[in-house]
Amino acid sequence: MKTRQIVWTAVVLGGFLLHAEPGRVRAQPGPARALEGCGLTYAGFAKPFVESYCLRCHSSANRNFFTRRGAPKGVDFDAYAGICEKSAKIKRLAVLEAKMPKGKPKPTREERERLGAWLDCGLPR
Ligand code: HEC
Repeated sequence: MKTRQIVWTAVVLGGFLLHAEPGRVRAQPGPARALEGCGLTYAGFAKPFVESYCLRCHSSANRNFFTRRGAPKGVDFDAYAGICEKSAKIKRLAVLEAKMPKGKPKPTREERERLGAWLDCGLPR
């Protein structure tokens, strides 16, 4: 009886640890995260990110103040070049200070951190 209990505990605990491992590694700050960031690309990560959270204001398709909801003219992220041009401010406002986007939907903290990692890696395409 006792042996069986120990075996079951080991199986359950082992399964839990195996399952939890990838999440735990991803949650660690430092080199592991930076390395993950360098696997992120514009096409695979940043483009869908800005589409979800930024383009309803910061898009060259939005031509006037009202459709832009006040987003400054010319600060557009629908092209890769526009993101490059403002990368330092994007890092500050969307990652470090979490002031952008205005309104909802907002990215999760993890999504913001991934954006920061992508920017730190030099905006790989
Ligand atoms: C609901 C509209 C809206 C959304 C969505 C939005 N912004 Fe903005 N953004 C603004 C407004 C308005 C300003 C002007 C400054 C202010 O009012 O804070 C601004 C300013 C900025 C600036 C400063 C530009 C400069 O040159 O001074 C950056 C960078 C920026 N936004 C990045 C982003 C990013 C990145 C996202 C998506 C994660 C985003 N914004 C989403 C409305 C928006």
